[in-house]
Amino acid sequence: MSFRLQPLPPARLNRCQLFGPGSRETLFEKMARSAADVINLDLEDSVAPDDKAQARRNIIQAIGDIDWGTKTLSVRINGLDTPFWYRDVVDLLEQADERLDQIMIPKAGCAADIYAVDALVTAIERAKGRTKRLNFEVIIESAAGICHVEEIAASSPRMQAISLGAADFAASMGMATTGIGGTQENYYMIRDGQKYWPDPWHWAQAAIVAACRTHGLLPVDGPFGDFSDKDGFVAQARRSATLGMVGKWAIHPSQIALANEVFSPDEAAVTEAREILAAMEKAKAEGAGATVYKGRLVDIASIKQAEVIVRQFELIAG
Ligand code: COA
Ligand code: MG
Repeated sequence: MSFRLQPLPPARLNRCQLFGPGSRETLFEKMARSAADVINLDLEDSVAPDDKAQARRNIIQAIGDIDWGTKTLSVRINGLDTPFWYRDVVDLLEQADERLDQIMIPKAGCAADIYAVDALVTAIERAKGRTKRLNFEVIIESAAGICHVEEIAASSPRMQAISLGAADFAASMGMATTGIGGTQENYYMIRDGQKYWPDPWHWAQAAIVAACRTHGLLPVDGPFGDFSDKDGFVAQARRSATLGMVGKWAIHPSQIALANEVFSPDEAAVTEAREILAAMEKAKAEGAGATVYKGRLVDIASIKQAEVIVRQFELIAG
């Protein structure tokens, strides 16, 4: 046990993060009108090297011109292993409207990666007199990133969220996979001649959730590549939600409603959580720390579980 209280994550919705390439500006208005909580305009891997400069100009223009409503607006910059990232940061901070909420730093490998971006961002914010602090979200998508996930989570007060990037992660780990997230055909066990498929992403997800919860950040599940496989997306998202993640990326508009549905507690869950809280209030009034609800034990830990569900419901309700 620790005497330190676990910090709460930022009180904002992050059920779905919709991505779109910065080079496809015709998508921007559609993204702004979508039901996603977070918009990620991409400068990284969905933009070809020759298109980077134009994509930057498109994004800078769109940040100021488009009505993004109450969405969290983020731009994914290029990785620190490329010659592009510093120009992404400089141009965004020197030229983009303060509507920009955060940047996403891909392929983070250690806390010093975040420190470097923080130093550059801080200098430009001061030089330009920007009053709104730019926040960071990070993708863990390498062996180094998952080894150092806790120091990355603690690396800067700008940190808000960490996503798992399954495809780059699998490549970095040398995993024998090709799909982006989800069930992997060769990751199976056999019992009584029957195959079943465990979750190859479980360890990395749990490590990200633990680091995020320790430091008050939002843990997020990354992309699911096969956007024609709705059942596969929902199964992956439900596993992530069960492990404590708050949302998932959409790389196609068809995935937005699915993510919103999975990461919004349903009415039955909210009713049950409220009933558990009421049962515990009654127990407390009677001097008991535990009681029985629908034939099962509920105690002080159940209050905290129920509060997670009620808090999320209230955030969605507005
Ligand atoms: N955001 C908002 N709208 C999108 C969209 C997106 N990311 N992707 C497609 N749409 C729109 C299309 O413009 C089209 O609109 P319309 O009905 O008005 O014509 C509709 O959704 C259906 O699109 P569809 O034809 O099925 O897809 P596409 O072939 O145009 O594009 C992808 C498919 C995968 C290339 C595209 O969705 C995409 O670029 N996704 C994001 C990729 C990305 O950012 N990757 C980085 C993170 S991993
Ligand atoms: Mg990646």
